[in-house]
Amino acid sequence: MSVLRVELDERSYPIYIDTGLLSKSLLSKHIRSKRICLVSNDIVYPLYSETVKAQLSDYEIDEIILPDGEAEKSLANFEVIMSHLLANGHGRDSTLVALGGGVIGDITGFAAACYQRGIDFIQIPTTLLSQVDSSVGGETAVNHPLGKNMIGAFYQPKAVIIDINTLKTLPLREFNAGMAEVIKYGILGNKNFFIWLEEHSEKIKLGEPTTLAKMVEFCCQSKADIVAADETEAGVRALLNLGHTFGHAIEADQGYGKWKHGEAVATGMVLASKLAVAMNLLEVSELRRIESLIETFDLPLLAPKNMGFNEFICHMRRDKKNLAGQLRFIIPTAIGKSEIRDDVTEDMLQQIL
Ligand SMILES: NC(=O)c1ccc[n+]([C@@H]2O[C@H](COP(=O)([O-])OP(=O)(O)OC[C@H]3O[C@@H](n4cnc5c(N)ncnc54)[C@H](O)[C@@H]3O)[C@@H](O)[C@H]2O)c1
Repeated sequence: MSVLRVELDERSYPIYIDTGLLSKSLLSKHIRSKRICLVSNDIVYPLYSETVKAQLSDYEIDEIILPDGEAEKSLANFEVIMSHLLANGHGRDSTLVALGGGVIGDITGFAAACYQRGIDFIQIPTTLLSQVDSSVGGETAVNHPLGKNMIGAFYQPKAVIIDINTLKTLPLREFNAGMAEVIKYGILGNKNFFIWLEEHSEKIKLGEPTTLAKMVEFCCQSKADIVAADETEAGVRALLNLGHTFGHAIEADQGYGKWKHGEAVATGMVLASKLAVAMNLLEVSELRRIESLIETFDLPLLAPKNMGFNEFICHMRRDKKNLAGQLRFIIPTAIGKSEIRDDVTEDMLQQIL
């Protein structure tokens, strides 16, 4: 088992990574009182809740099972969780346990941040995307009809427990979408990891557990380092948004759910790389390698046919990362190196879109 740590003074916490961790008694180490509320959805709950609950026979557990889907990361379900906690007499020493992908992790984390001004929560991420990205770093949120993730808080979990075996039941399209975030860590900050991914792509596709565990560990360590350096995205953490400015525009334009977040990020990384080439910051040969690795995992390279410059720009102007109305982009300047740039002109964007 690997144990990483997110170092944030009194808010530091461990990330456990291995195969078979759901059957180990790690949860109880991080639970303060006897009261637990398990939050999951109707897809993940039947698959893994019995194994999780079997480790908690000494605890008083109740549960909330939300319907599946991004649309459920809503203020309405936030209220469902609040009402359940109040009606069941949960106090400030209760712990919320999020069992599921990024949707369950994000809404449970936000509920934990708000209930009685903050209670403990633990993440058990069960998708590749949530294991390598959303469960680490404390970004919690729900969506609003006028914008995704627009209502939320930075609120760190007490622990993250990653059981690689949960990936066995994950649909292939979801796995590949998670691979976009994995590839992102290589492009933005570590050429050796990018090369390792190129060399291990077959084993990854076959779901070889040791390879997957190593891959997830690398991503968590990268995210933990970045979060420790910049918890609230005042600086370096913005690099994690590589591909997201274009990606969010695609998701919003096409209607949430049609493109998976990871698919939109994959295309977004290709567009950011093309922008870098247009700005003479990235070699064309590096762009080709980036495209090739993304394609290996059946992720899209091209923006939707019905989206051109006007559609992109209209969505990108609303991006949370913009400062003083100026568009900001994360631009790869080489495989393993990226920069935050606010000198991208609309002419340059027109060239690549
Ligand atoms: N907090 C952050 O830092 C952060 C970062 C990136 C993304 N996100 C958020 O994460 C969400 C996307 O997360 P996601 O991709 O995990 O989506 P998701 O939670 O919707 O899960 C994807 C699908 O896989 C199913 N599933 C989950 N685990 C499974 C398993 N082991 N076996 C079979 N099916 C399983 C889910 O029920 C769902 O249908 C978005 O809301 C996004 O905004 C948050």
